[in-house]
Amino acid sequence: MSTAFRVRQNGFATCQMKSPIAIAPLISLDSVDSTQNYAADLLKRGQPIGAVLALQQTAGRGRFGRAWHSPPGECLAVSLAFTDYVGHPRPYLLGMGLAVACAQAFECTVQWPNDVVYENRKLGGILTELLPNDKGESVPVVGVGINLNQANFPADIAGIATSVRLLHGYEIQLIDALERILEQFEALPELLNWSELASIWMALDTTKGKQYKLRDGQVATASGLGPDGELICEVDGREHWALAADALLGP
Ligand code: BTN
Repeated sequence: MSTAFRVRQNGFATCQMKSPIAIAPLISLDSVDSTQNYAADLLKRGQPIGAVLALQQTAGRGRFGRAWHSPPGECLAVSLAFTDYVGHPRPYLLGMGLAVACAQAFECTVQWPNDVVYENRKLGGILTELLPNDKGESVPVVGVGINLNQANFPADIAGIATSVRLLHGYEIQLIDALERILEQFEALPELLNWSELASIWMALDTTKGKQYKLRDGQVATASGLGPDGELICEVDGREHWALAADALLGP
């Protein structure tokens, strides 16, 4: 566990979240397979990294190994490396905090575990991974994908996706979108426990009543969120608790 994190755990909280690019470089690329892969490589080699931003991803990935479309200049694709949160006991809170920041930046809502949505259409999603650095420590890396300037989408997602342009009628540069999101993120309290985020998340939450597929294939209906931000859902009247890694939206 990093010294900074130990100090915070012992009660000297810094109070607000700090954006990774306030303490380490932002790396901007024209094209990459996935910003998550690029971040993983830099971490493994012990290179300084705050975030990796790409104009285009050729093999962007989402949760559960699904593909994430990032056409040139149309989608914010950025991976934020929280190198000062090595050993965080609840790294998924960083992803949930970023979902809240994106929803606030673009006047949307959130859906467990960290989708950014507007009336059941997805504006963006978050992928939180623990990636090893050169010392073998696990660094939380949060990949943020937000649809910005698309006027239309490929047929397979046309009915379920939206963009800032379609919602609000304007286009926005990737770097300006990132700045707007990080401004909201830095206004959040430091996310060590769900209790720090719960009321902010719940004010934007649209999870209740939605259907999730559990790891064992059962389809569950969301009833709320638990004391650690886990999903509480029901299958045939029986209550289940699920972590982000164990439940996928949709029947
Ligand atoms: C999801 O909704 O399933 C999560 C999507 C996450 C996509 C982002 S785009 C930037 C980063 N790089 C990736 O390959 N994926 C994440």
